Amino acid sequence: MMTKMIQRLKGLLAVVLFAPGLALASEAVHLDKAPVSTDQARLQRGAKIFVNNCMGCHGLSFVRYNHMEQIGLTPEEIEKNLIFIAGAKVGDLMIPAIQAADAKRWFGVRPPDLTLVTRARSSEFGSGADWVYTYLRKFYRDPERPTGWNNEIFPNVGMPHVLYEFQGEQTATVTQGEHGDVLQLSLTKPGKLSVEQYDEAVADLVSFLVWAGDPSANFRKSLGLFVLGFLAVLLVITYLLKLNYWKDVH
Ligand code: HEC
Repeated sequence: MMTKMIQRLKGLLAVVLFAPGLALASEAVHLDKAPVSTDQARLQRGAKIFVNNCMGCHGLSFVRYNHMEQIGLTPEEIEKNLIFIAGAKVGDLMIPAIQAADAKRWFGVRPPDLTLVTRARSSEFGSGADWVYTYLRKFYRDPERPTGWNNEIFPNVGMPHVLYEFQGEQTATVTQGEHGDVLQLSLTKPGKLSVEQYDEAVADLVSFLVWAGDPSANFRKSLGLFVLGFLAVLLVITYLLKLNYWKDVH
C-alpha cells in the first residue's frame, strides 16, 4: 500500500518536474534576428507593403492613417498612396477591408489585428519583431492544407503566403531530429525578389509594425520630460512657500 503510494508520488513528481521541459523542447523554434530600424524611408516602404498586401485582412485598429505623418508623410501622400479602402479618410482608424465574419468563414480563423503583434509575440526565443520577421519568411508549399501553404514556425497556419510572388515558393524536406521532425526549407521556385531583397522588404514591413505598435513613443518621451520639469518648478515654489509660512514661527 505504502510503496504503491510512494511510486505514484514519484510518477507525479516526474511529470511536474519534466513536463515543462518537454513542452519547451517541442515548442523550441529558431527565430532570426529582425533588423528593425526607425529610419523614415524604411518605415515608409514598410507602410506601403502593409497597405498593399496585408490590409485586405488585417487592421492596425489603434492607428489612424494620419499618424503616418510622424514617419515623414504628408496627408496628401497618405491619401494618394496609402488609402485603398473605399470611403476611408486620413483621420480614420486603419481597419481592414474584410468583414470579420467573412474572414472567419474563409480562413477558419479571424485574421488578428496586428497593432500589437510585435509585442504580443515576444518570448524567450526572441522579440515579437523577430517572430514576425521569421514567420513571413518561413512559409512553404503544403498540398495538405486548404490554402496550399504551411509555415515552419506557425504549423497549420490559416493565413496563405500572401507575399509568395515576391519570395517565390519554398518546399520542405522533413528529417528526424532529436525532438521530432525537423524541417529544411529550400527555395524551389524563385519569386520577383532575390532572397536578400525579400529579407530587406520584410525588415521594412516589420519595422513599420514595430512603429505601429507604439506610434506615440516620441510624444511620450517628451511628455515625460515636461512632467519632470513641471515637478521641479513645483518643488521650488512649494519650498519658497514653506519658508514664507514658517518665517514668523521661530
Ligand atoms: C487573405 C487574408 C490575409 C492577408 C492578406 C494577410 N493575412 Fe496575416 N493572417 C491571416 C489569418 C487568417 C491569420 C490567422 C492565422 C491562424 O491563426 O491560423 C493571420 C495571421 C497573421 C499573423 C500571426 C498573428 C498571431 O500573432 O497569431 C501575422 C504576424 C500576420 N498574419 C501578418 C500578416 C502580414 C504582415 C500580412 C501582409 C504581408 C498579412 N498577414 C496578410 C490572413 C491574412
